[in-house]
Amino acid sequence: MTTATVARASISVRGVSKSFEIPREAPFLALKEASIEVEPGEFLALVGPSGCGKSTLLRMIAGLLKPTEGEIWVGDRQITRPQEDFSIVFQSPRLLPWKTVLENVMLPLALGRGKKVPKAEAKARAQELLELVQLEGFGGRFPSELSGGMQQRVSIARSLVNSANVLLMDEPFGALDAFTRERLNEELLRIWSATGRTIIFVTHDMDEAVFLADRVAVMGKEPGRIVDVVDIPLARPRNAESRTSEEFFGSVRRLRQTLSTGVGVDAGGAGAHRAE
Ligand SMILES: Nc1ncnc2c1ncn2[C@@H]1O[C@H](COP(=O)(O)OP(=O)(O)OP(=O)(O)O)[C@@H](O)[C@H]1O
Ligand SMILES: [Mg+2]
Repeated sequence: MTTATVARASISVRGVSKSFEIPREAPFLALKEASIEVEPGEFLALVGPSGCGKSTLLRMIAGLLKPTEGEIWVGDRQITRPQEDFSIVFQSPRLLPWKTVLENVMLPLALGRGKKVPKAEAKARAQELLELVQLEGFGGRFPSELSGGMQQRVSIARSLVNSANVLLMDEPFGALDAFTRERLNEELLRIWSATGRTIIFVTHDMDEAVFLADRVAVMGKEPGRIVDVVDIPLARPRNAESRTSEEFFGSVRRLRQTLSTGVGVDAGGAGAHRAE
């Protein structure tokens, strides 16, 4: 696995709104005027209730979806299309069904333009990552022969196989049992600190957000928006013990308060989430 430190550029979300056109209905405002600066090498978590626009925001940062208003920049480059040096883990696994597990993990290396990795090295790296997500021995299977949680772990391995500068993860561990999730949380932090990547990580789980992140953007809905950005003053490196510290519980409590007071305060009555 590569441990090279990657290029450092901040991600700047500037007044971004997104409304979706819906046939025979008024446009739906999914995200309203979101702004945030993500520092190079930062670990940012996005939390908020279902439907508040977390995936929408992540997809816009990934360049997969265009903002209706506002702009997103990485360094001096405006994001208008998918970025080669961004890696994304979707909320549900998206594997190629006709390729084996190992081939799926190797895919980003095979597609890497200009910097092709020799096949033997690609294979060794993919196998190492399959081991990391506890799927050694499953490399020759096809995705349909795995459970949902196992498929998601293949997606996670695939997202880590190249040295993408930015990792965008949409509830990557949502389908996993608590034990596996906590182990992968620690592995992810280890990889993050070894590689200096920027990570934006969506989760419903406040404990997970606090354990992982430098800062947590708390989102609310109707309309979807960023309510607050909370600093997490938990010392690093973080390990199982961090989860029992005063700072940990204090941060989780603060997040819960922000979530419960922030949600819906800006709604201004029924239908306020509709675009004008
Ligand atoms: N392509 C689309 N067309 C119309 N509406 C959409 C589209 N994509 C998302 N939405 C709406 O935008 C809102 C935000 O969706 P999004 O998927 O970003 O939520 P989320 O915060 O990721 O929720 P969850 O936690 O359930 O994954 C939802 O109300 C959803 O119905
Ligand atoms: Mg989502």
